Amino acid sequence: MKTKIIGHRGGAAGYPENTLIAFRKAVELGADGVEFDVQLTKDGEVVVIHDEFIDRTMNGSGLVKNHTLKELKEMNVGEFFSSDFKEEKIPTLKEVLEIVKGLEIINIELKNYLSYPKLEEKVLKLVDQFKIRDKVIISSFNHYSLEKVKKLQPAAKTGALLMSKMINPSDYVFKRGFNSLHMHFLTFDQKIIEKSHFMGIETCAYTVNYPSAAADLLKNGIDMIITDDIEMVQKVREKNDI
Ligand code: G3P
Ligand code: MG
Repeated sequence: MKTKIIGHRGGAAGYPENTLIAFRKAVELGADGVEFDVQLTKDGEVVVIHDEFIDRTMNGSGLVKNHTLKELKEMNVGEFFSSDFKEEKIPTLKEVLEIVKGLEIINIELKNYLSYPKLEEKVLKLVDQFKIRDKVIISSFNHYSLEKVKKLQPAAKTGALLMSKMINPSDYVFKRGFNSLHMHFLTFDQKIIEKSHFMGIETCAYTVNYPSAAADLLKNGIDMIITDDIEMVQKVREKNDI
């Protein structure tokens, strides 16, 4: 199976993370999919942003969850990257799905170490409204949240994000009934990939920004590569004729 290239937070190099302009560019570049992070605003709207605090990427300060959508939309989310993007506003999940709904893989990462009441329900509802269940992978470092997703919708595809080099990660994912194993690219090796495939688990490496690392993962048969540079991995994939 051909390895899928997934744009990390959009993944279009030269564009600010998790912005509509980056997602449009990812589609234009022919990415197989995109990955992005979701959280809840004070008034319960699902928004696409990585950090729990707005300080790094927005011209404001404090937690996402302490601001309403209206307040957040009054700020910008692109200027931290370059003044060319100062008109970019924080996107809602709905706005992003409108752009990326045609892609093969849509990886929605629930960024919920903090408590976000009904985030899982809201995401699943919107996915159903767009009729894109088959292409969505819901991932999280919070595996309680993934269990909740499974309970709400047993057929939903869930990706277990791991932060450390865990012992027998594919056994863990299999036992919990999750569908894919998402690990830091340096913690993957051929044995883990093969064992995962044997158990019916897909493998996804994040965040791969070096051509040599991408080439190794491709050779080892990884299913998905998450990258900040879609074009770079596309070139490596073409060169390796995989
Ligand atoms: O889903 C892969 C990757 O996005 C996880 O790390 O911190 O970039 O969300 P982070
Ligand atoms: Mg992420």
